[in-house]
Amino acid sequence: MDLKAALEELGHEQVTVCRDAQAGYVGIIAVHSTVLGPAVGGTRVWHYASLDEAMTDALRLSRGMTYKNALAGLPFGGGKAVLLGPAPSSPAGRASFFRAHGRFVERMGGMFITGEDVGTSPGDMEVMEEETQFVAGLVRGMGDPSPFTAYGVRRAMEAVAAEIWGSPDLAGRKVAIQGLGNVGGNLAAELHQLGVRLVVCDTDQERVASAVTLYQAEPVAPDAILDVEADVFAPCAMGGVVDDEAVGRLRVSAVCGGANNQLLRPEHGERLRERGVRYVPDYVANAGGVISGSVDIAGWDLERMNEALDHIYYTVREVFALASNLGVGTHVAADRMAEARLAAAQTHSRWGGGAEA
Ligand code: NAI
Repeated sequence: MDLKAALEELGHEQVTVCRDAQAGYVGIIAVHSTVLGPAVGGTRVWHYASLDEAMTDALRLSRGMTYKNALAGLPFGGGKAVLLGPAPSSPAGRASFFRAHGRFVERMGGMFITGEDVGTSPGDMEVMEEETQFVAGLVRGMGDPSPFTAYGVRRAMEAVAAEIWGSPDLAGRKVAIQGLGNVGGNLAAELHQLGVRLVVCDTDQERVASAVTLYQAEPVAPDAILDVEADVFAPCAMGGVVDDEAVGRLRVSAVCGGANNQLLRPEHGERLRERGVRYVPDYVANAGGVISGSVDIAGWDLERMNEALDHIYYTVREVFALASNLGVGTHVAADRMAEARLAAAQTHSRWGGGAEA
């Protein structure tokens, strides 16, 4: 990878590669922007084939956090830590791995504040806290962000309903959920309470069985979820799900879910638009998790946090309105709104972040 070119293209401020031989730890801490505040983003552990592959992920994900945090109205910049997995399997080895990471986070002096992500847990965050104060998502703090993420997706879906059907009421609508994990499971519970009819799939059959029992959901096989005729498709499993094939198969009015990086490529957002399928940009819909982090990180009270969660509804409406005014896809409109907020900040943060983005 031409790292200098990548940093210039994506606009990163600082990227640090960290290594602790004793702990078997190699990690990348990517700070994309501190224009709006300290860079906030999760710590991911993944089996990367190479440092280059990990770097690509770190750069992409940290930039995504800048946009997500800006559009959610949070006083945070964007960053991400990506650790080369697997983490040691023994409890002592795993603790030493995350303590090493905690030391590197601490060295950054508050420029980067992290929490859990794919491959990490609130328990890992507790271990890191032995070494750093710059960690959120602790068991005794706000803990698991997923219920907040799911609530935010529900608010985004209500905005979709208002946009398409003239009322935010979701009762009687049919939603197809892909993935019933932390986010999808909580979303299913939320929507069921609102009287939504659910069609669900997961590769884990126990999760499917539980949704059938608890929410009278209709189960389908994982490879059939794209063909379900429904009002909304809610991707809550992996990224890249909206690809050439999905665009052709989907039989829904809208795509609105919790998964990160739902569009395989930006052109797929355009293709959804051409087909008249409303797409809620993933980072707008799934900002609830990081919004809940504001309590631990920025000292927000619960009322302020709930306001920000509810505000996802209005942000989605604004994104739709701008997309329609400009004649562009919603994914483009959301990026423009985030970029406008960053440009308007026009400050140099205490970490030196300029207003480039
Ligand atoms: P999770 O690992 O708890 O749940 C994912 C679920 O998807 C699992 O039940 C898994 O069995 C299922 N799954 C995997 N492949 C599948 C397939 N091909 N078809 C159907 N189901 C499949 O993960 P979590 O935390 O619920 O996150 C889901 C997505 O939301 C991820 O993309 C994550 O990055 C994103 N996200 C999560 C946030 C959170 O607060 N947990 C915040 C923002 C984004």
